[in-house]
Amino acid sequence: MILIVAGSLVGASGIILTQIMCKAMNRSLGNVLFSGFGSVSTASETIEGEVRPIEAQDAYYMLEAASCVAVIPGYGMAVAQAQHAVKELQELLEENDCEVIYGIHPVAGRMPGHMNVLLAEADVSYDLLLEMDEINNRMPTVDVAIVIGANDVVNPAARETESSPIYGMPVINVDQARTVFVLKRSMASGFAGVDNPLFFKENTRMLFGDAKESINHVIREFE
Ligand code: TAP
Repeated sequence: MILIVAGSLVGASGIILTQIMCKAMNRSLGNVLFSGFGSVSTASETIEGEVRPIEAQDAYYMLEAASCVAVIPGYGMAVAQAQHAVKELQELLEENDCEVIYGIHPVAGRMPGHMNVLLAEADVSYDLLLEMDEINNRMPTVDVAIVIGANDVVNPAARETESSPIYGMPVINVDQARTVFVLKRSMASGFAGVDNPLFFKENTRMLFGDAKESINHVIREFE
C-alpha cells in the first residue's frame, strides 16, 4: 500500500514537472517526446554580424563602471561548477556599489531548479533571483548581462527567427541589456543544437574559456 501511494506521488510530481518544462519550452508533450529537438543539428540561416572576443581585463573595465549587472546562468555554470566564483564576483561588484541580480530561466540547466540549487549552495540570496518575466522587464536598464554557460535560454532567435526550431520558446532577453558578456568555451551550440545570433550582436562580447576560470580571472583584476 505504502509503495503504491509513494509511486503515485512520484508519478504525479513527474507529470507536473513535465508540464512545466513543456510550457517553458513552448512545445507540446508529443513534440518533446517524438521530435529530434536536442539531438539533431538543424540547418540554420546565415547569421549577420561579427564575433567580438574580449579578455578578462576588458570585462573588468566594463564591470567596474557598471551600476547594475544581471547574471544569467545556464548548464555551463553547472559543468564548470562556477557558482562559488559567481558569488565572489557578486560580492566584489556590490562592494563597488553595483546592484547584482540573477535571471533564472525555468529550463536553464538539465533539470527543474538546477540553477536555484547551485546558487543556493553558493549562498546567493534567494531575493536576488528573478524569474524570466521579471528580469526581462528590467533588462533595458541593465548595464552588463553576464551569461554564464547559458545558450538556448538566451537565444534571441526564439523571438526573431520564425524558421528556428526554438521559435516561440520564451527566453531571457539579454540582448536588450546595454552590454552582454557571454562566457563559454567555444561557438558550439547548446542542448537544442541551434545557432545563436546573440553571439554576433553588436553589444555582445565573448569571453571564451571555462566559466569558472574566466570569472576567476575577472576577480583577480578586481583585486
Ligand atoms: P545549453 O543551451 O545546453 O548551453 C549550455 C552551454 O554551456 C553550451 O553552449 C556550452 O558551450 C556551455 N558550457 C559547457 N561547459 C562549459 C564550461 N565548462 N564553461 C563555460 N561554458 C560551458 O544550456 P541552457 O541555456 O541552460 O539551456 C538548457 C537547455 O536544456 C534547453 O534547451 C532546455 O530545453 C534543455 N533541457 C532542460 C531541462 C531542464 S528541466 N532544465 C531538461 C532537459 C533539457 P561551450 O561548449 O562552447 O562551452
